[in-house]
Amino acid sequence: MGYKIVVVGATGNVGREMLNILDERQFPVDTIEVLASRRSIGTEVSFGEKTLKTKDLDTFDFTGWDIALFAVGSEATKKYAPIAAKAGCVVIDNSSLYRYDPDVPLVVPEVNPEAVMGYTKKNIIANPNCSTAQMVVALKPLHDRARIKRVVVSTYQSVSGAGKDAIDELWDQTKSIYNPVDNKPPSKFTKQIAFNVIPHIDVFMDDGSTKEEWKMVVETKKIVDKDIKVTATCVRVPVFVGHAESINIEFEDHLDEDEARDILREAPGVMVIDKREDGGYVTPVECVGDFATFISRIRQDSTIDNGLNLWCVSDNLRKGAALNAVQIAETLGTRCLKKG
Ligand SMILES: NC(=O)c1ccc[n+]([C@@H]2O[C@H](COP(=O)([O-])OP(=O)(O)OC[C@H]3O[C@@H](n4cnc5c(N)ncnc54)[C@H](OP(=O)(O)O)[C@@H]3O)[C@@H](O)[C@H]2O)c1
Repeated sequence: MGYKIVVVGATGNVGREMLNILDERQFPVDTIEVLASRRSIGTEVSFGEKTLKTKDLDTFDFTGWDIALFAVGSEATKKYAPIAAKAGCVVIDNSSLYRYDPDVPLVVPEVNPEAVMGYTKKNIIANPNCSTAQMVVALKPLHDRARIKRVVVSTYQSVSGAGKDAIDELWDQTKSIYNPVDNKPPSKFTKQIAFNVIPHIDVFMDDGSTKEEWKMVVETKKIVDKDIKVTATCVRVPVFVGHAESINIEFEDHLDEDEARDILREAPGVMVIDKREDGGYVTPVECVGDFATFISRIRQDSTIDNGLNLWCVSDNLRKGAALNAVQIAETLGTRCLKKG
């Protein structure tokens, strides 16, 4: 006996990865259905050894299904997630629509697994932003030991964080640098992304920050501790998959870099690769397809009392989205949802 699972947005980057992860982690699936927009009806997607044909989300009846893993944008989520939830199917949503709703838990299972129990108010659980997810996995065990006061983070985010069309844009632009005949103006990004970096992700806010930066602030508070101050600069880089972050942390109590390294080595979901030699750290291409959040370059910040610097890398389609969503489903199954 397993769960009746629906993957919504199954033709997208996150949806396809969710199918891979459900299979890799041998999630107890009894029946599975894959949905996307009408234009993708019949499109084949892989689930382990099986090939599944995509159906239309618009006409799907969620009655009798246990869990719907949503990976469509906020607009489609707004229309269809309440329908699924009302039909009794628990929605685990990857969009930003419900993350800041006080009646919807925002969960990273390594950090606040107990929060899943709050799903009953709306039958919906939110998955955080990709940059937040990997950062809080590293922050939580350090916060438990030395109380974090302030975090300064700069991100180096891959194009897959902006969907499948963004991957195509980087690929096409990269080729067109060598063959300018095929040159097309940017459409997913505001400027050329190939051989460039862009300090702008999501829309601008009134205070000059971007919404991606605001999300890191607000989500870290909701998941870890409302008293932690965060300031972020989010940058898109010409990498296909894998987000990197340079994180500066100021603690209330002293935390030695060696003790921090030991704490992170023991932390769930974290892999420390930190050798002070050529190549003794992890870069985005090495984290692709992995479950872990990798931490490198752990070192004291001697310019402040109780400061540490570290480098954090993870597969944004996995820990930043699909893996975290499946881990939430696992947590839900272990704690409260009956199979079948
Ligand atoms: N990529 C990341 O690192 C990441 C991380 C965290 C959260 N997220 C969030 O996860 C969601 C999916 O992201 P993604 O990167 O997988 O995007 P994507 O590659 O562009 O895929 C989007 C998926 O949504 C489907 N879709 C779009 N509009 C639809 C509609 N009106 N009805 C039914 N299906 C619709 C698409 O179906 P068609 O193929 O039929 O168009 C496709 O399956 C977004 O909310 C995103 O913000 C992404």
